[in-house]
Amino acid sequence: GKLRRTLRWAWRLTYLSTAGVVGYTCYIVYQDRHPEPQFAPDPSKKTLVILGTGWGSVALLKKLDTENYNVVVVSPRNYFLFTPLLPSCTTGTIEHRSIMEPVRAILRHKKAAVKFYEAEASSIDPDRKIIKVVDSSEIKGATSETEIPYDMLVIGVGAENATFGIPGVREHSCFLKEIGDAQQIRKKIMDCVETAAFKGQSPQEVDRLMHMVVVGGGPTGVEFAGELQDFFEEDIKKLVPEISDRFKVTLIEALPNVLPSFSKQLIDYTENTLREEKIDIKTKTMVKKVTDVSVEAEISRPDGSKERVTIPYGLLVWATGNAVRPIVKDLMSKIPAQKDSRRGLAVNEYLVVQGTRDIWAIGDCAVAGYAPTAQVASQEGNFLGRLFNNMAKTENHETRIQELSSRMNIQAGDSAEAAHEIESLERQLRRIKDIKPFRYSHQGSLAYIGSEKAVADVSWWNGNFATGGSMTYLFWRSAYLSMCFSTRNRVLVILDWLKSKVFGRDVSRE
Ligand code: FAD
Ligand code: NAI
Repeated sequence: GKLRRTLRWAWRLTYLSTAGVVGYTCYIVYQDRHPEPQFAPDPSKKTLVILGTGWGSVALLKKLDTENYNVVVVSPRNYFLFTPLLPSCTTGTIEHRSIMEPVRAILRHKKAAVKFYEAEASSIDPDRKIIKVVDSSEIKGATSETEIPYDMLVIGVGAENATFGIPGVREHSCFLKEIGDAQQIRKKIMDCVETAAFKGQSPQEVDRLMHMVVVGGGPTGVEFAGELQDFFEEDIKKLVPEISDRFKVTLIEALPNVLPSFSKQLIDYTENTLREEKIDIKTKTMVKKVTDVSVEAEISRPDGSKERVTIPYGLLVWATGNAVRPIVKDLMSKIPAQKDSRRGLAVNEYLVVQGTRDIWAIGDCAVAGYAPTAQVASQEGNFLGRLFNNMAKTENHETRIQELSSRMNIQAGDSAEAAHEIESLERQLRRIKDIKPFRYSHQGSLAYIGSEKAVADVSWWNGNFATGGSMTYLFWRSAYLSMCFSTRNRVLVILDWLKSKVFGRDVSRE
């Protein structure tokens, strides 16, 4: 009897909590689909131009009270991309649209309307306070260029792929930064597999085609190598068994170990796990040249000698970190205070670009002393959102104080009431103006390493702890799910995970 009663209660609780989650999701979806009417921005307010729709800019937009400014967003990408799950799109574990959020949908939820231009900023003139933008949409056939004036400018254009000028990299390798890159890799993996399975291929050619080389042992390279090996073990092996013993993943890293930013214990765990997964890790190996069929690399031996090797490949993925975008380089060359900065726009503790007054920089294009991560970019964007809201409040308060003081001089009768309001406004102003400089709070680092294992260096309650394995993988999944931009993204990612687990990944080549 007791057991039955407990089971009945457990069933009721499960039922109620499921109904609660479903109900809440429906409520959020309804709210998303029926936003409040927006009002037009006030043309007398300052024009705030935001470049980019990545982690930094979108965090700023989320926080910003848009009714205080005329906000204009310019980006060649009309969506926000949740980069942490991009490696999963290369093999179809997740479909790419599940991690994209249209910027129009984000802007529609702001109180005052925001202008969005799908275009690329080509140059910034800090003296005339204008930016030049180029729209190269295919529909027009020709590119069109225009100018946008600004009172305040935020640069959140991110970074481009570093190639260090190594010959052949741009022509022959795939990068992993944007949706288009992930789609290209997904197509190319299957091209290699189908071509290797084609009738009459020589054994050397099959080996080359089935050799997937990843250059760069940072988190991008490691996560991609892990996803690739999973894809092969869980799907390709079953679907194309005749070439299954020829598939090989090699990860090349110039430094003595992979994941240099993680703790020693996790580096060892990662390297052991990757080796168990049969991924060949070549550390202390620097790629020097790339051709259409092979990479040439220099291996540093323990005795200090160097050996040059040629490694044939079918697919080459280049993940060696970030380089400065041309628009950022161009701006740096126009500002004398930036002449010693190499890795991006040097900013002060309020994220103002050094040597300017009305330009701020956030994320991968800014040098504020932190790593180029989504975590840093979004905290910086959030900080600027609060700063701009405060600046607008300050201005409103100051105007009101001026108004009241001049009224006090004219109409003596109102003066007691006005003096009281001025006092209260000044008190508020002191509080608003007391905004502290930006300080990054590190929540930890997470990376997927394949075969349903992940590593985590987490900072909690002033302590750090490092962990790796299958439980960390569940933590990785739930952490990234909770960080997804919208409920729609979250639902789509869960469905994709389920779909690829139950039916296998879709190997058809579009
Ligand atoms: P981005 O997010 O790159 O956005 C830049 C924006 O600027 C884009 O919208 C772009 O279209 C736009 N833009 C570019 N040029 C111009 C121009 N000329 N004019 C106007 N707009 C322009 N970090 C983590 O913390 N955790 C992770 O798990 C993680 N995983 C990652 C996985 C991958 C595969 C990659 C590539 C990166 C990952 N990162 C991760 C790093 C993280 O994505 C970046 O640090 C972050 O995107 C930086 O944000 P951002 O706003 O500076 O730039
Ligand atoms: P990275 O800069 O972290 O790593 C690039 C690696 O390539 C370096 O270890 C470097 O030694 C190696 N390299 C450079 N040139 C080479 C050559 N010629 N031959 C062989 N190896 C070479 O770059 P990554 O992984 O793209 O990451 C960029 C940023 O994004 C980092 O700040 C990273 O922390 C962040 N990120 C975070 C993720 C996470 O937290 N899970 C996932 C992906 C990126």
